[in-house]
Order: sequence, then C-alpha cells, then structure tokens
Amino acid sequence: MRVERPEPVRDLDWSPDKASELATSVGDIWAEWLEALPELPVARHARSDEVRAAVGIEIPASGMGLADLDGHLRDVVFKHSMYPGHPGFLAYVSGSGTVPGAAADLLASAINQNSGGWRLSPAASEIEEHLVQWFARKFGMPAGSTGFIATGGAMANLVGVQLARLKKAGWDVREEGVRGGPQLRLYVSTETHVTVDRAAEVAGIGRAGVVHIPVDHDLRMDMAGLRQAIEADIENGMRPIGVVGTAGTTGTGSIDPLAAIADICDEFDLWFHVDAAYGGAAALTEELSPQFLGIERADSLGFDPHKWLYTPIAGACVIVRDPEVLGEAFGLQASYVLEGEEHTGWGRDMAFLSPNFTRQFSAFKIWVSLLAHGWDAFERRIVHDVELTKYLQSLVEEHPELELVSPQRLSIATFRYVPTDLPISDDRESYLDDLNEKIMYDLEFQGKVYPSNAVVNGTFAIRSCIVNFRTEAEQMETLVQETVRFGRERHAQTS
Ligand SMILES: Cc1ncc(COP(=O)(O)O)c(C=O)c1O
Repeated sequence: MRVERPEPVRDLDWSPDKASELATSVGDIWAEWLEALPELPVARHARSDEVRAAVGIEIPASGMGLADLDGHLRDVVFKHSMYPGHPGFLAYVSGSGTVPGAAADLLASAINQNSGGWRLSPAASEIEEHLVQWFARKFGMPAGSTGFIATGGAMANLVGVQLARLKKAGWDVREEGVRGGPQLRLYVSTETHVTVDRAAEVAGIGRAGVVHIPVDHDLRMDMAGLRQAIEADIENGMRPIGVVGTAGTTGTGSIDPLAAIADICDEFDLWFHVDAAYGGAAALTEELSPQFLGIERADSLGFDPHKWLYTPIAGACVIVRDPEVLGEAFGLQASYVLEGEEHTGWGRDMAFLSPNFTRQFSAFKIWVSLLAHGWDAFERRIVHDVELTKYLQSLVEEHPELELVSPQRLSIATFRYVPTDLPISDDRESYLDDLNEKIMYDLEFQGKVYPSNAVVNGTFAIRSCIVNFRTEAEQMETLVQETVRFGRERHAQTS
C-alpha cells in the first residue's frame, strides 16, 4: 500500500534569525556574568534539595519561548552555579575556562562535528592531530609522537594503563584478557591520583595488581622502593608491566623523579606512563620545564589543558611515543565504516584509535584559545601562578598563627591554622585536623576565596592550587586573613 507523502515537520529546525536571537541572549548573559563575576560569591552554601527545587523545572510539552528560556538560563548561571573562573577559586585542580574556548565550544556544537570519523569532521580531525603533535614536540617527545584529545586525566590514565597491559603483558591481552598469564603488576606512588587505581580495576588488573610505592620526604616516588618492589614481584612469578610517574601530584604538586623512573623502565622493559594532568602545562614553559626532566621519555603521557591551560572542560591530551600503538590498542573493524583511504584521501578515523566512537570536537576550544591568546600569554600566566603561590607561602611563613604543611610546589601550597596558645597534648593533632577542616568549610561558605584540602602525611591541610588566570595577590592576602579570622573564632568557641 502506498504511504501518503509526509508533510515536513519543522519544529526543531529554528530559523537563522531565531538562532541569532538565542545566541544574542546567551552572549548577553555571558557578558553580564563576566562583569559581575568579581562581586559574585565563588559559591553559595546551598543544599541539594534547594537547588533541585529551583532548577529542576517541569519539561514543557510545548517550547518555553525565548523570554522564559532566558529567565531560566539566568537562574542557572547567576543563582545556582559555582564559579571555578572566579578570582577566589583555589580548589582542587579545576581550570577557570578561557573566553575564546567557550566561544569555540558553541561553534563546535553548532556545526556538530563528529571527530570519530575524518569524513565527518575534516577540519576538526586535522586540527586535533596537528594540536596534539604540537604539544608532543613542546614536551620534547620524538617526531612521530601523536595522540588525541580525551575527556580528562582519568581517561588518559585509563589509556596509559591499557597500553601498558597491551604492550608488556607478554601475551595477546586483547584476545585472551588478563587470564592469559600471571598477575600483572603496575607501579604507582602513594601520591598517585586515584584514577590510576580505577583504571587498573577497569583494565582487569585489579587493585591487587597496583603496587603503591612509598614516597620520600618531598612526596616523590622512592626509587629504591620501586626497584625492590619490581625485583620481588619478578622473583614471585608476577608480571611487572609499567610504572606511572606523576608530573605534579594533586595534593602537593610534587614531581616524581621522571628520568630515574624512565631508566628503571628501560632496565626492566616496562611501560612508562606519565600523569601530567596537572603539571604538564608547567612542563611546556621555558622557565619551569627543567623540573620535568625525563618527561620526554614517556611511552604515553596524559596532560589536561582543562586544568592549567585554563581551557573549558572537557579537553585532555593523550600523547604516545609510538604512533602505531593506538591502532594496536583500539583498532577494530566496524562493517558499516569503510576506510577506503586509497579512493578518498581521507585522514585517520579517531574512532579506531581511541576509546570513544562518536567524539566531540574538544580540540577546538584548546586550539582557538591558543590562537586567540598566543602561547606567550599562557607561558606568562603559568609562571605568574607559581609566583603567586610563592607569595602565599611567604605570607604563611610570616604569620605566627599559620604553619606550612607542605612547601610551594608548582602552583600548590598547603598550610594550617595553629593557635599560639594550643598546648602540646596527645590530642593536639586531631584537634588541629578538626579545626582546619571547619575553617575550610567556613571559607568555602563565605564565598570570598574557595580553597580545598590535602592530607599530607596524615595531617589535614588547607590547600591553594592556582590554575586560574583571574587570581591575583589580593586573593592570596584574603585567604591568609580569612583563615586566621575564622581560625580565631572557631578556636575561641572550643577553648
Ligand atoms: C594528577 C591528576 N591526574 C588525574 C586527574 C584526573 O583528571 P580529570 O579530572 O581531568 O579526569 C587529576 C585531577 O585532578 C589529577 O590531578
């Protein structure tokens, strides 16, 4: 039976004028938000149920209309969000987000490139490869090193662990899985980011396969401990596959002895993955790069532009030394995707060279940020973040009621409030841990500056990490003043 010719259904197909109207209203909100940002609180002390009630509105059967939509967007942006791009945001390792990067994100979504296939994203695919290879060269990795833009450091670590497993297990892991041989062992330090443990779980190595090597006084992986662990495992019939060195730990910014780890990897034929999610940006600068000697010897490296290159979330960079290894790890044939390079001249399809299939054009926000600002501006700002952290350290050292917990490393410093009248007693340390935790929440709820915490050798510390191009000396001074003010108040309440 002949089916009636369907009439067009145009509801979702907005006209250029309506698109422009929405973009203008979004642009206005953005500009107003940028203007208001320094006066807004970094975060508000809001409860989950309150936020849900405010933003979890009913989804209408018919579209809202631009005025109502504008009102809702304003509620989300101005009333119920927190701002990692606020000058006072000093927590975790969460970048501020560049302005050109945000604009690039809008355009990437507008033309909706699928960076999984070259034919679906010619410019996007070429920009991504060109960008990653530019980073690889700046890290000092050899010609031919390449990679892709991933969602974050967690994914970069998963790829690194997967490559270690693939190349060093000694059997066909893709075919047989991890049951094809002895227990695989991966070496990390006690300061390594938890996503490496999770990567080992996902990769089937299990937590039992992850060896946490102790750290030295500077919280860097201990090389004698690493060697001993590898030798003991070999003796016990296990299969060492790789070492993860961290170029800038999350807690305190320490940098593992990368060159010494590379030597050990060479000696025992192990995969060398560097987690440079945080510190990678500093390794790209002329002034700070000497601290990262050995990074260029990585077999795989993860580096997060969405942290210390300040670009919007999400965009991390995975770099591999051997360009063939990504195809070995992720190449699979899908019958409905024909490569046909000899007929077409198309480039590489990242769907077969990385874990995701459909892929965002995440390289664009990094690319456009670099084009708009130029590299020198990034280099100046990264070095400035380190200078600000040194300034914070000096303010802490000068103050009789503050104590450094770990010294400035890169753009991280940790410290605590210690009342001068606190007696030496058995519960002194637990009192200080508790007091400083309360101070941290006081600071966060107040909204002027927003630090987070680190636990350094069992001690609770207030932690400042600057991956934020809007932070200046004023915020360092506020952090010190307000820590002391809240510290005195809290201590007075309990003593
Ligand atoms: C050293 C390090 N590695 C990995 C990660 C995880 O990165 P992402 O949050 O981008 O997945 C972090 C996050 O802070 C980190 O600091």
